[in-house]
Amino acid sequence: MYVSMKDMLWHAHQHHYAVMAINCVNMEQAKAIIESAEEESSPVIINISPRQLKAHGYGYIMVPMIQALAKQASVPVAFNLDHGANFEDIAQALKWGFSSVMIDASSYDFEENIRRTSMVSTLAHSLGKSCEAELGHVGLAANADGQNIDYYTHVMQAKEFVERTGCDCLAVAIGTAHGAYPKGMIPQLDFERLTQLKHALNMPLVLHGGSGAGEENIQKAVACGINKINVCTDLMKHAKEALIKTLADEPDIEYMELNMAVEDAMKDFIKAYMRFIGSSQQYIFDKHIGPELD
Ligand code: 13P
Repeated sequence: MYVSMKDMLWHAHQHHYAVMAINCVNMEQAKAIIESAEEESSPVIINISPRQLKAHGYGYIMVPMIQALAKQASVPVAFNLDHGANFEDIAQALKWGFSSVMIDASSYDFEENIRRTSMVSTLAHSLGKSCEAELGHVGLAANADGQNIDYYTHVMQAKEFVERTGCDCLAVAIGTAHGAYPKGMIPQLDFERLTQLKHALNMPLVLHGGSGAGEENIQKAVACGINKINVCTDLMKHAKEALIKTLADEPDIEYMELNMAVEDAMKDFIKAYMRFIGSSQQYIFDKHIGPELD
């Protein structure tokens, strides 16, 4: 079933677990994500960024395909524009029928972030869609941005931000960063700040840069109030490694079989992740994670 992210994440907020939001650039990934969710009786979110939409997974192909897969799925599936940076990309995503959009105005100052986020939030809500925003800034692992405390989300600012923008969930900066961390590095997360944010906001919170953050960190982040975890790099890495290994083991494998082997490897990774962030089996216990979308 195809749903908005809003009700899905409120359910996660109320029941203290997190939902994976996984970046997806092709049919094999979309199938792996949705089949994993079905096999785990878990809600799931498919993320695509404007860059991915422009580079490879073009909207006119990906959107109808993901909607078709989501609508026939036995579990709730939301479809979110990841890191929408400008109004054109966001309006296009809503026109295509994404069930949710993220406005990332986190590199602007506080007032400009509020102005841009409010505009997108109002537009998304008028269409029955949900809106994710970011305050503080989750930068790049390669630049060590996660350890720059100046980027972290301020608790009092976050409260004002949510009240003034009406966003449905908030991505917070507490020490993670996008992409692969330097070899051997596990980031240190500011759990005290996260706990304060959860207490002050009492709403679904989002962790970007989930890849490579370490199982212990991820589980603690969920315990402290994270309800959506964005994962891109780790899934791409698993897919690539499976591709290399399968070809090394079976150089004569047919192309279709190769794709199927990679899909299975992605499913193993996703299903294990769903279990350790607590979204597995959530759909069995509560059949009402929001109305279905057309
Ligand atoms: P990673 O690539 O670090 O998993 O980050 C994904 C993300 O946050 C997408 O918004």
